[in-house]
Amino acid sequence: MGSGVAQTTTIGVIGAGQMGSGIAQTAAQFGYSVMLADVDIKIAEKGKANIGQALARLVSKDRLPAAEAEALLARITPIADYAPMIGADIIVEAATEREEIKHRIFENAAKVLNPDAILASNTSSIPITRMAARLPDPSRFIGMHFFNPVPVMGLIEVIPGLPTSKETTERASAFARSLGKAVVLAGDEPGFIVNRILVPMLNEAIFVLGAGMGSIEDIDAGCRIGLNHPMGPLTLADFVGLDTLFEIIKVLHETTGDSKYRPAPLLVKYVEAGWIGRKVGRGFYDYTSGTPVPTR
Ligand code: 3HC
Repeated sequence: MGSGVAQTTTIGVIGAGQMGSGIAQTAAQFGYSVMLADVDIKIAEKGKANIGQALARLVSKDRLPAAEAEALLARITPIADYAPMIGADIIVEAATEREEIKHRIFENAAKVLNPDAILASNTSSIPITRMAARLPDPSRFIGMHFFNPVPVMGLIEVIPGLPTSKETTERASAFARSLGKAVVLAGDEPGFIVNRILVPMLNEAIFVLGAGMGSIEDIDAGCRIGLNHPMGPLTLADFVGLDTLFEIIKVLHETTGDSKYRPAPLLVKYVEAGWIGRKVGRGFYDYTSGTPVPTR
């Protein structure tokens, strides 16, 4: 775990789910004061509690001093309305991957955004230019795509839209680096760089499963051992969330019109069944017993 850099800057994070909590944890780790917002204060508080649990694990493994964990956690304030974000230099949106939900959030965030603050979206696939166009000042809007688990993964994709100013791009990149992350600049095209490559691969693994070409375990072992990937594609799909994966592959399909991005029928079935991965205890694996058990 990297050590904190003394800073006094406040940032806002909207969405206290897996990604929002990870962003809040990382920012607090690097000295930022974080306003963690969600629609309901209970959800925001749950996000902070989840961060507390992640930190407790690090403390128990002697990876983080208890006092540092406590100080880190104290820098995170759960909130349910956006007013306390008024002093933030940057607001990062990490809500559900649905465009209408994001538009509503941006409309409200723009009302509390300082004239020199920037608004970033952690969208994994929605065009930045299209979202920017609905904002009062599109030049201060940008994409910042984090990877899960945020405190562990070393990359942030920075995605300027057509109206994003050079200054906003530089400031977002500097913020990303201040979190100890490497930055890649990605074009505002569906999936940006990494998901454009990753998501079709995960979708293809589900086609391979659906075609009966291999078992869940063999497909995962094949990529894990044969390609040296840390997780097999079906384990990773469960980790990302099959609902999120479905949303991204649909965006790729709809925006490019290319049939190679059509969602695998078995992905649709798992989403329809509500078996959307680790966060609900069941996806391609059942996680309820503690040891993942394949569901097919
Ligand atoms: N906060 C801080 N540290 C954490 C943490 C957290 N929330 N969660 C895990 N860690 C740390 C652990 O403490 C551990 O550190 P240590 O080895 O120094 O003790 C380290 O991370 C590894 O954790 P674990 O030992 O629990 O687990 P693994 O060694 O099995 O690694 C993994 C887990 C890092 C998730 C690894 O399996 C991996 O890299 N998987 C691939 C993840 C990936 O591809 N992510 C990208 C998904 S795509 C995406 O996010 C984009 C989106 O738009 C779809």
